[in-house]
Amino acid sequence: MTVRNAGDIIDTILIPEDRLRARIAELGRAISEDYEGRDLLLVSILKGSVIFLSDLMRCITVPHQIDFMAVSSYGVGARISSGVVRIVMDLATSIEGRNVLIVEDIIDTGETLDYITRILRERGPKSLRICTLLNKVERRRVDIPVDYVGFDIPNAYVFGYGLDVDEFHRNLPFVATLRDGATVHGAG
Ligand code: IMP
Ligand code: MG
Repeated sequence: MTVRNAGDIIDTILIPEDRLRARIAELGRAISEDYEGRDLLLVSILKGSVIFLSDLMRCITVPHQIDFMAVSSYGVGARISSGVVRIVMDLATSIEGRNVLIVEDIIDTGETLDYITRILRERGPKSLRICTLLNKVERRRVDIPVDYVGFDIPNAYVFGYGLDVDEFHRNLPFVATLRDGATVHGAG
């Protein structure tokens, strides 16, 4: 078994680097205005949001802290959310009384963030908002309020810029769509 190169499984480049950079700068400006003079804790959902977080936080000009949380849907390697979510790694800090902004890579059905926000709300944050880079509007099953959206995208599997195909190709600097039926692992 070999791992196919990204170039062999990309259908199209959906969002190129310059568009990502420009939109993330806008998000950073909006967040900086909204949280001016307020406490801010960015909560990044691992692993998909790490590249987005690292670019976004450098576009945020107000003082803030970061923390990480990892969740997983049951069914490893599944390309669609199973709807059953659990915490794999919890936050290191208490969020009680804090202004929390969740930083996520993509919202698909909304089930992951529905679960995360329910858990975090029980911990008594002062405020809890959501920032997602990508939003698959058509696929939403749970209605969750999203405060900051980078891009609304069509219902297609995407990868790159932090998002994976079977845990590979998160390092691509752009967001790409997957060629129909393409798999990462292949013979030869
Ligand atoms: P939801 O619970 O259906 O909203 O799914 C959210 C999670 O599913 C994201 O955090 C991703 O990990 C994963 N996901 C959904 N769509 C895609 C995609 O197109 N590419 C990569 N990961 C995806
Ligand atoms: Mg994710």
